[in-house]
Amino acid sequence: MAVRKTYNSIEEEILDLKRKRNAVILAHNYQVGEIQDIADFTGDSLRLAQEAKKTDADVILFCGVHFMAETASILCPEKKVLVPDMEAGCSLADMVRPGDVRAWKEKNPDGVVVCYVNTSAEVKAESDYCCTSSNAQKVVESIPADKKILFVPDYFLGTYVKEQTGRKDMELWRGYCPTHTMIQSSAIDVLREEHPGAEFLMHPECGCLTRSMHLADKILSTEGMVRYVQESHAKEFIIATETGILHRMRQQNPGKTFIPASAQATCTYMKMNTLEKVVDALEKLQYEVKVPEALAKRAYLPIKRMIEIV
Ligand code: 13P
Repeated sequence: MAVRKTYNSIEEEILDLKRKRNAVILAHNYQVGEIQDIADFTGDSLRLAQEAKKTDADVILFCGVHFMAETASILCPEKKVLVPDMEAGCSLADMVRPGDVRAWKEKNPDGVVVCYVNTSAEVKAESDYCCTSSNAQKVVESIPADKKILFVPDYFLGTYVKEQTGRKDMELWRGYCPTHTMIQSSAIDVLREEHPGAEFLMHPECGCLTRSMHLADKILSTEGMVRYVQESHAKEFIIATETGILHRMRQQNPGKTFIPASAQATCTYMKMNTLEKVVDALEKLQYEVKVPEALAKRAYLPIKRMIEIV
């Protein structure tokens, strides 16, 4: 019987397996702290997609949610893309189906569909442009002004982009992130009163965006927030997004205080990934996310357009 190698820690085991598999670990900013700490790259949806495209590893272990791994598979069809838990999905991505987009396009043959990266590969394949929270405005601005736009699926990011661009002919899908709806403007009002010196940063998926957008010092993607707090001279920050982001902020800025706008804003799907599941994934090369070639080719087009714009 083969003797199982022993390790001093689970992190050491992961490092060894990573070497053996020539794997890279990508972690979204909402992952649990231990996963962020062992990842090769932690970042927002755009940064992780870029890292996936750049890597020369054979295996990409994507610690995030399903649509993120799908995006990596679309960008790197030759790589093995794994996730620690196949059940880690995204409620927001599930709120729009490919048939919804097709039906809109039938009614609006000259219209343009912009899909947030939080969508399935099938929805991307029906869309004209993809975007992330860090580039949605730029993507919309690049579309000729006379074109009617449908923005799917996040209503709040769509509202923000519409406001920023002044775009009139832009329909917004009514999807939302349940985690970001836990962040209430009444709680933000209280926190701002209690911490008058704090800067208030908001993710554009926040359900209270329509009411509190004008109070925010900055509206940023998760990576934009991580960067901003490092550069800002403020000592206190109110952070309106999923709480996983606080880990890196606190680690990188020991002299600063980070207050979650809602301590309840945790994404159950993001938190399904654990170090134990990371070990299993690398050991057994499971669970593979592979977008079928024909679908991947169609879904790649809107992503490619986004990458060219940014
Ligand atoms: P970013 O990390 O790109 O800001 O987006 C977060 C997200 O969409 C998770 O659902």
